[in-house]
Amino acid sequence: MTIKFLGHSCFEIETEKGKILIDPFLVASPDYDPNGVTDIFVTHGHGDHLGSAIEISKKTGAKITAIFELANYCSKKGANANGVGLGSWMQYPWGRVIAVPAYHSSSTPDGNYAGCPCGFVFAIRGKSIYHAGDTCLNQEMKTIRELYSPEIAILPVGGYYTMDIEQAVNAAEWIGASYVIPMHYNTFDAISVDITNFERQIRNNGKVPVIMEVGRKID
Ligand code: NI
Ligand code: MN
Repeated sequence: MTIKFLGHSCFEIETEKGKILIDPFLVASPDYDPNGVTDIFVTHGHGDHLGSAIEISKKTGAKITAIFELANYCSKKGANANGVGLGSWMQYPWGRVIAVPAYHSSSTPDGNYAGCPCGFVFAIRGKSIYHAGDTCLNQEMKTIRELYSPEIAILPVGGYYTMDIEQAVNAAEWIGASYVIPMHYNTFDAISVDITNFERQIRNNGKVPVIMEVGRKID
């Protein structure tokens, strides 16, 4: 299994039995080739997360998994979309996924209600990966640790719309992940940070910060 960073909050997870995209906002990877993508997960309706999900689904047939109202919006636009709620495991050929709470807002590009925002926990061949979406620090993260013990946590750190570095360092403690990947920073002025502060604090807490430049892939 590999995890590739495509910019902002977008990651590609490649497994033997499928290729997954999360929050495919691809301004930092305009040449990304979505052929072979089987599943797209969208944490909420904001443009920097929904991104090109609908276009990619229409082009490749990849199925979008999102909260019910957002999935309905995607279906109406011609995408192949699966509407879900928070809190139960969903089975895929390559593993299983559960949508977990995120504390944020969510609307479709036309400004309509898009259901609640969420994060996703992926369980793939014995590995547990948590993509938090856009969220503040919240107590649910302790539950995520208790129930799913993610070894990799992908957390927003840019502040303003989400957790900042200070909050994300706390989140990493609560989640208990060994490897922490920051996202949702330095894409816009409002979310610019000095990521070395995050790197240093995570390392001081005995965890491994994984700072990924766009296009970097890890095993
Ligand atoms: Ni957002
Ligand atoms: Mn966002």
